[in-house]
Amino acid sequence: MRTLDAGGETLEPGRGPHDSGAGAGVEEPPFLAACFGRPASRVPVWFMRQAGRSLPEYRALRRDGAILDAIRNPELAAELTLQPVRRYGVDAAILFSDIVVPVAAMGLGVDVVAGRGPVVAEPFRSEADLGRLRPFAPEIDTPYVLETVRILAGELDVPLIGFAGAPFTVASYLVEGGPSRTFAATKRLMTSDPETWHALTDALAETALAFLRAQVAAGARAVQLFDSWAGALSPAQYRAAALPAARKVLEGLADLGVPRIHFGVGTGELLADMAAAGADVVGVDWRVPLSVARRRVGERPALQGNLDPAICLAPWEVVQRECRSVLAELGGEPGHVFNLGHGVLPETDPDILARVVDLVHEEGRRGSGA
Ligand code: CP3
Repeated sequence: MRTLDAGGETLEPGRGPHDSGAGAGVEEPPFLAACFGRPASRVPVWFMRQAGRSLPEYRALRRDGAILDAIRNPELAAELTLQPVRRYGVDAAILFSDIVVPVAAMGLGVDVVAGRGPVVAEPFRSEADLGRLRPFAPEIDTPYVLETVRILAGELDVPLIGFAGAPFTVASYLVEGGPSRTFAATKRLMTSDPETWHALTDALAETALAFLRAQVAAGARAVQLFDSWAGALSPAQYRAAALPAARKVLEGLADLGVPRIHFGVGTGELLADMAAAGADVVGVDWRVPLSVARRRVGERPALQGNLDPAICLAPWEVVQRECRSVLAELGGEPGHVFNLGHGVLPETDPDILARVVDLVHEEGRRGSGA
């Protein structure tokens, strides 16, 4: 139960950002320390999509089953969450779930198709579709997710990251009906009927907030808000159509005292706004060097990233060089959570990721403030 490997003492949930626990003689997990910009014994590392098709043990357990069915099975979802933690020795676990789980559970006709992603039978296109929404009650609609979190809280000795899709990104799936390159239908609704767009994203903000609060109550010790596709927006569009709902989620979590990570892809021009939405940590993709990201977000938020996931397909010498260059970008300052700039690609060799973890732990140690 929440036992830290250093000394076997227990750390209670809900520890506030200014309570390092150092006085109690308990070593704060490096991941949590880094999220709050505090010195840590090493640079912590985890990988977005660390559970998934790159792991043979994942493929063996998942076989042909639907991902939403796997998520509805707490024992299986907990095991899929634990697999990469055991194999890689990462500093955090990410809950095995998906950003569309709440809207699927609410009966909005959402499914996840292997190799394609979320699809929606009848996309949201007009004000009339708002009538299909209803309040989301995590304990009733997704008891299996909370059960998975509870199992993991008892098993893990690294923090569990709970997550939700940000309102813009989830709305884009509901409106497009599936993955999109242009987000044309989404932008059409945003610009031609801003009231409906606002009502939709506000309802999705309430959903994400309730879901994340329930995950923390069940034992998640950090949360990540995935606004994966926010990079499709200009800064002005982002401020008008995505930021208010993201802020509602992040600020609504402030009293819980757990780190809030805010991530998107292609968001170089949005980083300052994403930080201002109420994030303790801003996720950065590989397009923006972390030193540049640091200037954009200012001193306070920690940064998470940002090795290009495709680099992990290169020979180890290349991967090693690129990892070192990511580490060097922040000059060893506290407040760096090493990660990829987006999810692990399915064709990645797990041994490369294991070596990345070792390298970050070994070489990130010096400058991490310890
Ligand atoms: O290891 C982890 O990161 C935990 C699990 C996780 C999944 N989805 C499982 C999953 C997480 C954090 C997500 C979040 C998610 N889901 C995001 C945000 C992260 C990102 O990539 O930007 C998004 C956009 C989705 C929507 C989604 N679900 C997509 C685009 C896909 C990929 C489709 C495919 O098959 O390539 C999914 C399906 C999905 N979710 C898979 C996994 C492991 C792959 C399908 C499977 O294994 O059956």
